Amino acid sequence: MLPNRRREEATLFSPPISQRRPFHRKRCVWKACLKSIVLFALLFGGQVGSLRGETGEAAWLRYARLDKAASDNYRSLPAVVVALGDSELLTSARDEWIRGVQGMLERTPRIEHNVPKEPAVLLGTLASLRAALSSLQIPSGISGDGFWLSRQRIHDLDFIIVAGADDRGILYGTFALLSKISQQRNIARIDEVQQPSAPVRWVNQWDNLSGTIERGYAGPSIFFDSGNVRTDLTRAGEYARLLASVGINGCTINNVNADPKIIQSDFIPQIARIADAFRPWGVQLGIAVDVSGPKIIGGLDTFDPLDPRVAEWWKRTFDEIYREIPDFGGVVVKADSEGRLGPSAYGRTPADAANVIARAIEPHGGLVFYRAFVYDHHLDWRHLKNDRAKAAYDTFHPLDGKFDENVVIQIKYGPIDFQVREPVSPLLGGLERTNEAIELQVTQEYTGQQRHLCFLVPMWRESLDFDMGVNGADTPVKDLVSGKTFHRRMGGFVAVTNVGMDLDWLGHPLAMANLYGFGRLAWDSDLTSEKIAEEWTRLTFGNDPVVVKTITGMLLASWKIYESYTGPLGVGTLTDILGSHYGPGPGSSERNGWGQWHRADRNGIGMDRTVATGTGYIAQYPVNVEALYESLQTTPDELLLFFHHVAYTYVLHSGKTVIQHVYDLHYDGAERAQHLMEDWKSLAGRVDDERYSAVLARLEYQAGHAIVWRDAICDWFYSTSGIPDAKGRVGHHPGRIEAEAMQLRGYEPFDVTPPEAASGGKAIECPPAQRECFATFQFSGAAGLYELDVEYFDQENGESRFRVSIDEQLVDQWTASDHLPGTRPNADTSTRRRITPLTLRPGDRVQIEGLPDHGERAAIDYVEIRPTSAQR
Ligand code: GCU
Repeated sequence: MLPNRRREEATLFSPPISQRRPFHRKRCVWKACLKSIVLFALLFGGQVGSLRGETGEAAWLRYARLDKAASDNYRSLPAVVVALGDSELLTSARDEWIRGVQGMLERTPRIEHNVPKEPAVLLGTLASLRAALSSLQIPSGISGDGFWLSRQRIHDLDFIIVAGADDRGILYGTFALLSKISQQRNIARIDEVQQPSAPVRWVNQWDNLSGTIERGYAGPSIFFDSGNVRTDLTRAGEYARLLASVGINGCTINNVNADPKIIQSDFIPQIARIADAFRPWGVQLGIAVDVSGPKIIGGLDTFDPLDPRVAEWWKRTFDEIYREIPDFGGVVVKADSEGRLGPSAYGRTPADAANVIARAIEPHGGLVFYRAFVYDHHLDWRHLKNDRAKAAYDTFHPLDGKFDENVVIQIKYGPIDFQVREPVSPLLGGLERTNEAIELQVTQEYTGQQRHLCFLVPMWRESLDFDMGVNGADTPVKDLVSGKTFHRRMGGFVAVTNVGMDLDWLGHPLAMANLYGFGRLAWDSDLTSEKIAEEWTRLTFGNDPVVVKTITGMLLASWKIYESYTGPLGVGTLTDILGSHYGPGPGSSERNGWGQWHRADRNGIGMDRTVATGTGYIAQYPVNVEALYESLQTTPDELLLFFHHVAYTYVLHSGKTVIQHVYDLHYDGAERAQHLMEDWKSLAGRVDDERYSAVLARLEYQAGHAIVWRDAICDWFYSTSGIPDAKGRVGHHPGRIEAEAMQLRGYEPFDVTPPEAASGGKAIECPPAQRECFATFQFSGAAGLYELDVEYFDQENGESRFRVSIDEQLVDQWTASDHLPGTRPNADTSTRRRITPLTLRPGDRVQIEGLPDHGERAAIDYVEIRPTSAQR
């Protein structure tokens, strides 16, 4: 028995709970970790600065002070900075340089306005540099937003040249140079030209004017509040700065399910203020528009795109927008999709709808991003030839060449909807005479909603490198979307980002690697995932080699880990597709019109999309790709169930049956999620305490939720197929005590729906009539040190409290205040509290006391007790 268990009145909850966790390991480790921080600080004085608490607000632009050895390498950096011009962008570049050097090197560069007779950093366009330094040899091939960084000796003086083809290029070059210093790269002989892979490098925010964000997981909108643009747009400006630092040049600010009000005359001055906040960073403002605008807010009796009055209305609207926002970038359009009105209402095509807007905006230089996410969400699931995946290609391929030059078709990377793995959308190879952009998703809608670590760059990398083989040639997706393959003027990369007011922008300090990664890939679509992960880690957490190696490794492993407990063999993310898109809900995809079916029955699973016997979707790919996927033999295992319906006993290339693979993968994935947490713990003392504990809390949660996923998916596969796990794990959980099997006082058992959302399909809850409830059991294992997990439900609609005692001694108590996405006990809200280390002996009475709050009934699923790792 541990000596210092507290004996308190079993019914008393006395706050604050956070101060009273006698045996909660986090706290013990934390003390040790604080000690090591102090020790570390004493030993490595130069690193201390980087260990002070950080909120994540600075993201990868921290400009943390370099240690002495590193900063010595930049001793010869010129003390003067000259901006050759006075544009807003150039001023931003110069001020950014000063800010970065001050932060990293503790020096303040002196501002001069002309080329001085001493070493200097010169910021200018190619033209202004040529004029100022006639002897300068400028390399050819720098255009658009490209830049040249170079160290030159001229008239015996040392100059660092940051030259942009345009002002934006200068800003990008300045950020690039600062990034090198921050990563402690050698710039002594720097001489490099960088050209972006594509002209379109945009992000979309799905913010509602009310201030909420569709599929946003990091607090309210940075743009809107209660129906208006925020008064204080500081965060919007800071966001634009972050975007610019990785070369992103456009941002749409409102939900694609657009509120038409955004282009009403009285609202335009408000959005103009956001454009003002973006402008110093070269980020063009864009908005999402609703094609029904002419009717809904324009007072017309139609929004038929071929009606001249509609064309006139769009023209007037854009004339007005451009009067207020002369550098307005363009609009994104979602139409005929998920209940949005569209041109089909008048028997018109997406080309008609896109072009009427494009012609109105064209004189001002704006773009129209027309989304290919057009599909019928009332598909008849009984019809085996129906297939949502076919929709985008069927709709847009026949229109190739019919879109105006300033229209870009914005295509999600896969044919369904941001799943954890999908084949690339065939439409990406199906437009030869039309501009296109690939749409990626930084906000982790289907990939853990920033509660799970899932670095998506490796997934995007695979999509971008996929060779579509259009016309038998090498045509990787990255070249199709950038416009390179078919010599399109426009094209590129768009990501749905959804940052919010949370200080760390995305709600998980490591999730920002995805935003950074998107920008870097859009800038240079050849960059490897490894390079991007390493850059981001150095910029965000510093250059300690252990930190760099550990975090880079965690990032690079995380997508496959997430995939392995959420969506095996290309079946899609097996989440609740009708609700949160978060926790496991494999049954939700079937028998409804949304078309995310996997057609599981007693015998097999998977969508037959073959030409021979299935929906024929595969025929949308060029011949080589069609041949690859049509054959069961050549379809890669990881996409098997996307393309084929197979028996659970079908043997994969790996030699395992489908069903055993599913079981093994889920056990392995959940185990590796646990390792992520342990990897992170190895960084205690090497990462500032604030971010260390924020990330640790997320990873602890993920490790627990990965088990919820594992069990739900395995149980579902078992109950659907009837085939047991050859290794005997599924349905058998050593050390698990179901709550419904405990001795209950006040608590009542209930059936959880769907059943796989709770262990054994049941849990217990404390009915509202009760003030508190108790669940008790007797420990029957051998005496020793254990960890005890309480699996309970933390809903959005209340803050229940829990208290665990052993033989009436309190060992832990907490409030369920995490607000997981859901108002019912299910797999979205199931979460874990780990109490460790705990000494137990046979016969100990373990009691959990639950105190419900509002709609949350202190529900519990089970307790699991296992020896601590030290004992195992
Ligand atoms: C997904 C997402 C929606 C969003 C839609 C879109 O379906 O769940 O919230 O509106 O994608 O991309 O338009």
